[in-house]
Amino acid sequence: MDRRAWWQTAVMYQIYPRSFQDDNGDGIGDLRGIRRRLPYLCDLGIDAVWISPIFPSPMADFGYDVSDYTGIDPLFGTLRELDALLAAAHADELKILLDLVPNHTSDRHPWFQESRVSRQSPRRDWYIWRDPAPDGGPPNNWRSAFGGSAWELDPRTGQYYYHAFLAAQPDLNWRNPAVRAAMHEVMRFWLKRGVDGFRVDVIWHLLKDDQFPDNPPNPAFRPGQRPDHAVIPVHTTDQPEVHEVIAGLRRVVDEFPDRVLIGEIYLPIDRLVTYYGRDLEGAHLPFNFALLDTPWEARGIAKLIDEYEAALPPGGWPNWVLGNHDRPRIAGRVGPAQARIAAMLLLTLRGTPTIYYGDEIGMPQVPIPTDRVCDPFERNVPGIGCGRDGARTPMQWDATANAGFSTREPWLPVAAGYARDNVERERRDPASMLDLYRRLIAARRRSPSLRLGHYRPIAASGDLLLYVRECPGERTLVGLNLGGHTVPVTFPGGQLRGEVLVSSGADRDGAISQGGITLRGNEGLVMALAPDAVVPPSVV
Ligand code: NOJ
Repeated sequence: MDRRAWWQTAVMYQIYPRSFQDDNGDGIGDLRGIRRRLPYLCDLGIDAVWISPIFPSPMADFGYDVSDYTGIDPLFGTLRELDALLAAAHADELKILLDLVPNHTSDRHPWFQESRVSRQSPRRDWYIWRDPAPDGGPPNNWRSAFGGSAWELDPRTGQYYYHAFLAAQPDLNWRNPAVRAAMHEVMRFWLKRGVDGFRVDVIWHLLKDDQFPDNPPNPAFRPGQRPDHAVIPVHTTDQPEVHEVIAGLRRVVDEFPDRVLIGEIYLPIDRLVTYYGRDLEGAHLPFNFALLDTPWEARGIAKLIDEYEAALPPGGWPNWVLGNHDRPRIAGRVGPAQARIAAMLLLTLRGTPTIYYGDEIGMPQVPIPTDRVCDPFERNVPGIGCGRDGARTPMQWDATANAGFSTREPWLPVAAGYARDNVERERRDPASMLDLYRRLIAARRRSPSLRLGHYRPIAASGDLLLYVRECPGERTLVGLNLGGHTVPVTFPGGQLRGEVLVSSGADRDGAISQGGITLRGNEGLVMALAPDAVVPPSVV
């Protein structure tokens, strides 16, 4: 019936592989661990898994520093184990996406090793080398995302190389056609193996201004903010020519049937949507991270949804994200009660949702003692809240030692409350967060309007966010209370009649409403509207 691509109706799930399931007892998650947990993912009801990088890497940035694009790091397993994971996942009708990191390599990658040998190296132009400024300093004021200059002097040849992230992550020169061709081959290597697509790391960074002008200072910058925000990255990211590069990646993905290209992009909505590309020849899904930065407040969220919906190009398919391995956990940001409402929002908005592992059991943002800090960002820029370890802690499977994640002390501490918040306990509790996620995913799977219907805002006032998803023959109402106080819900000038499909507390599922409803504090309801329910036009 749905003539839609699978990734439009899918629920995606991000696995940070170091922290999902350790199978070989070294305290770090691995591919066999992921395979062992496939039944859990099937039971949850998700359709596709994106696995953060698993390629050989010195792990300076935990895999985002790749030293071999077509291998598997022994920490995670072997190519054979990846094949086994792909086969098992596909047998369970789960798709597997890998994380492509094309903007930069590790400084140990043979390409960079060759590039740095001499100015005449045939690989010299695979990276971005510049002479020092007249004073011997860096060529310009470009900043690394992880603190300090983005230029590193390489004494062997007396030039600087550019690194948008760590000095151990030199940026590739995507203006060089040989780099493009090599990365296209990398993609084909995985696509031929049966991988269902890629999430592409920092895709909006791939090209930089080839005249290398200084970035302008950011007048809004205040001490205490992350240091790279001192300048506005107008010359280092979001260059107009990047869209041709991305169209090139897309053409490779399109050589294979049914694959998807997702781009990691942190930009304002009007810029973000350009990443669908001219005539939709760019990313299928430019990741929409807008919810990560929006204050948790009904009017602001409604405005954001409207802005995004209005900005999408014709045919551009929306998507939503509530968390990832770079940003604080949603439960830490809005609290455990509102994390349920956030789940309801994520799974009832129009477009493909991506769940970050552990959010479905309410995993918290874990405080990391100084002596356990692993994240290079926190190490470089300590004490101002940049650290990402707290959102990367081991998955909480059960109440046994190390939360059932590993037989050994894990690489990052397990959350203190794991004996209560874990898969094993929550799977037996119908009022748990896990069960809420399961019920929401199942409702979405059953309901054409939730999967594919239009989004119609109804109200956003005080703590109430109310919208309808509708398609011919079916309408679903979503009412979310973003605060702790009771909120009555009526349709001004209309009639609210329907049946509750999912209630946040699991205690009103199946309830019939004949008039209005009242949302309790921190409550959300997803309701199938009766055919004769009269829904007013938007009153946002
Ligand atoms: C974005 C990734 O999500 C992040 O974890 C990483 O540190 C940077 N890109 C650099 O690759």
